[in-house]
Amino acid sequence: MVRESAMRRVAVVSACVVAAACGRPTPTTTPTPAPVAAGRPIHTVVPVPSSIQVTPTDSFQIDSTVAVVVPAGGGYAVEGIATYLTNLLGGPAAPPPRTLAAGEAMPPRSIQLALDPSKSTLGLEGYELTVTRDGVTLTAAQPNGLFYGVQTIRQLLPWSVEHRAAMNRRLLLPAARVTDTPRFAWRGAMLDVSRHFIDAEAVKRYIDLMAVYKLNRLHLHLSDDQGWRIEIASRPNLTAQGGSTQVNGGPGGFYTKAQFADIVAYATSRFITIVPEIDMPSHTNAALASYAELNCDNVARPLYTGTKVGFSVLCVEKDSVYTFINDVVKDIAAQVPTPYFHIGGDEVEKLTHDQYIRFIERVQDIVTANGKQMIGWGEISPAKLAPNTIVQHWRRDSASIHVARGGKVIMSPSSKTYLDMKYDSTTTLGLRWAGLIEVKDAYDWNPATLLPEVPETALLGVEGPLWSETLVKLEDYEFMAFPRLAALAEIAWSPQGARDWETFRMRLAFQGPRLSALGVNFYRSAQVPWVTR
Ligand code: ACM
Repeated sequence: MVRESAMRRVAVVSACVVAAACGRPTPTTTPTPAPVAAGRPIHTVVPVPSSIQVTPTDSFQIDSTVAVVVPAGGGYAVEGIATYLTNLLGGPAAPPPRTLAAGEAMPPRSIQLALDPSKSTLGLEGYELTVTRDGVTLTAAQPNGLFYGVQTIRQLLPWSVEHRAAMNRRLLLPAARVTDTPRFAWRGAMLDVSRHFIDAEAVKRYIDLMAVYKLNRLHLHLSDDQGWRIEIASRPNLTAQGGSTQVNGGPGGFYTKAQFADIVAYATSRFITIVPEIDMPSHTNAALASYAELNCDNVARPLYTGTKVGFSVLCVEKDSVYTFINDVVKDIAAQVPTPYFHIGGDEVEKLTHDQYIRFIERVQDIVTANGKQMIGWGEISPAKLAPNTIVQHWRRDSASIHVARGGKVIMSPSSKTYLDMKYDSTTTLGLRWAGLIEVKDAYDWNPATLLPEVPETALLGVEGPLWSETLVKLEDYEFMAFPRLAALAEIAWSPQGARDWETFRMRLAFQGPRLSALGVNFYRSAQVPWVTR
């Protein structure tokens, strides 16, 4: 009965998610969250929406009579989202979404997706969701917002929704009103496919998991000392030679143009922008092994399968090196119809400061001439950067110089966001040079206050890099990424004031069976009271 009355009181706001802990302010002490056994959180949505009211005593039942409807003229993107939702709810055999004729009223017991560009406060990615016992309405100003609203519907449903082939699942969507917009435009993940190669299907799987948590940028670290992973038409040796191995040897691999196009299209269908990185002038041994002329002594380097950094460098005084860079940037720019090109620029030990700065400025000109916006790791800041060049902070670096000139920063502090760091001293995979990062460490920080000279207004967003020196197969990647990537997603999406560790870990507890249903090999941190099925 106590639980009943607590539930009925819930005019729930985002920070109040555990039924037994709601509506009881205790001004002098930190409230202790109720154990899961005492009550299910009122909702378990990650990232927590900016505003959500749930009435768990009322619900909309999804069964085979429910239609997903889209307005006439909704467009290709909206129809794609509707199909994604019907597949989620009913599997590939589900009836296709229905298109309403112009002026036709919404049929009863339907899930309606509507675009309303006049709702400008929702921006590109916001949405409004209303669930009553009679129907569901999801509205957004742009298709991106509809897609994120669909992810919220997904997470309001029981985790059995993730079992596509299940026959007897009962899908009850609790009555809810949600208005939700993201804190940051850049909500990123990075995969290092150079140290170890994973194929296009594995990347698409990662994209699908990113989508569940409303992440929208996938940065692919496509070249490093150990491997070159993307086909460049004018430089076939980059993949034939440079792509032929990986850390500790083995076959390596690379994405053909067709495979890369497939990754880009798949990401686009999940509203995820691919950000290609070709790391330079260091981290370039795979290129130096493929083309002798990139070396000052014109001698091709042997392939490298170790994990040291800082030893390789392009011959930055040769004009032909810039011709090479232009060929690569031009080719990749044509393959990725998105605004960004990441040039790395990190951990350069073999150049003078002046050589390095001149190199970065020359490469910036090349990237700009190819119509792309340059991104580089924090080290590039002291160069004369264009205001729209983006700096990605990763350690005690010079991002603040770029902020002082009005530039934008992506926050990837290695001690918080590097998903390849071990969780604790017993973690078998991963490294520990930036520290041990338990789930709470990954969650409980504010990107706007981490660096005093980098305020919220300078932030484009946050990104979680996953370096792969120790990761061989997709299960390894998943184990290091989950659940920390979900924590990062909440930092990136939810208002700072709407999130706190105690309610997050309770919601995360219920993500466990969802991740299991999705087949994700995730880390069962002892900090989270995981719910088992
Ligand atoms: C980096 O971790 N070297 C950007």
